[in-house]
Amino acid sequence: MKSTKPFLLFFSAVITLSSCTAISQKKASQNSLKDAYKNDFYIGTALDINQIEEKDTKTTQLIAKEFNAITAENIMKSMFVHPEKNKFDFETSDKFIAFGKKHKMFIHGHTLIWHSQLPKWFSEIKDTAEMNAALENHITTIVKKYKGKVDSWDVVNEAVNDDGTLRKSVFFKALGEDFIAKSFQLAAAADPKVDLYYNDYSMENPAKRAGVIRMVKKIQEKGIKIDGIGMQSHWHLNSPTIEEIEESILEYAKLGVKIAITELDVSVLPSPYGMQGAEVSQRFANNEKMNPYPKSLPDSMQVKLAQRYADIFKLFLKHKDKISRVTFWGVNDTQSWLNDFPIKGRTDYPLLFDADLQSKKAYYSVIEAAKK
Ligand code: XIL
Repeated sequence: MKSTKPFLLFFSAVITLSSCTAISQKKASQNSLKDAYKNDFYIGTALDINQIEEKDTKTTQLIAKEFNAITAENIMKSMFVHPEKNKFDFETSDKFIAFGKKHKMFIHGHTLIWHSQLPKWFSEIKDTAEMNAALENHITTIVKKYKGKVDSWDVVNEAVNDDGTLRKSVFFKALGEDFIAKSFQLAAAADPKVDLYYNDYSMENPAKRAGVIRMVKKIQEKGIKIDGIGMQSHWHLNSPTIEEIEESILEYAKLGVKIAITELDVSVLPSPYGMQGAEVSQRFANNEKMNPYPKSLPDSMQVKLAQRYADIFKLFLKHKDKISRVTFWGVNDTQSWLNDFPIKGRTDYPLLFDADLQSKKAYYSVIEAAKK
């Protein structure tokens, strides 16, 4: 009888080889955030001016390796792109778009209508006709300029108060609540294909959520296009709870819109007076109690942060059919706005990469979450 040994050897070699290939493919597909989540949602980051201008090669390489979506942290806000009534300045926003194009990334525009970081001329308008004209010129010019280049826009940012009423912003005072629907209408007319989002913080708070839902329904009832809701997601180690976040994802999804996690960070620092939101005008005094880790974050806290990120991403994966993009508010801890908000001069550790651009425990827990 002919020996079966050579066949067995051959088959076991084939099996070993193919399982090795499977493992290495799995590894290869999970050696960056964007690869780990490539079948789920975009993984984005917010870029500051130095990153947009590629001032540091290592940072650029990290951004290109880990992320497939970008938002400008500041330079597309009205005070930068529309500094004077009759003057637009697109120099840095053009560089931002070029960065995204070069690295084949999803480009998100942040933000068209926001009461903060407004140029003086805009913030002083009181007259209805003048505000209408300003809104039209601002939105139409910017959206047309980046038509086909920007993939989605935050059309209106932070128009709802924590209690669900509408913020009495300069836009509201001049135009009433119509400024919101009108902004969406103008953006849709300037680029019918681009995705249009409403973006806000504390979107997990039930009273605020009810206000946002009322507002979105009014836009939809007018037949005006709104494609998504942006949950900024400036969160803390213990709040909001995963259940609160999930409830909001489910409630917003009922509106038939996409959900984006637009500005994710998790502060590990104490929050003054239980403050939860991201109201940029709020500021508190700094002291040792409020800045407990000025030099480095203890390992026990790195573990807590990693666990929190694992829980958050597990939830995002559970609802990946509703989530279009998850964007971190910055690349590494030293860039984070939380070092100066809501208290100036603290040291926070809210992101996945540390001051030296090294991956933190939280990074690995986010990668691990994708494997499960
Ligand atoms: C922040 C930036 O990160 C800071 O650099 C800037 O000084 C203030 O604005 N909600 C938003 C973002 O929509 O634009 C804010 O970004 C954070 C809160």
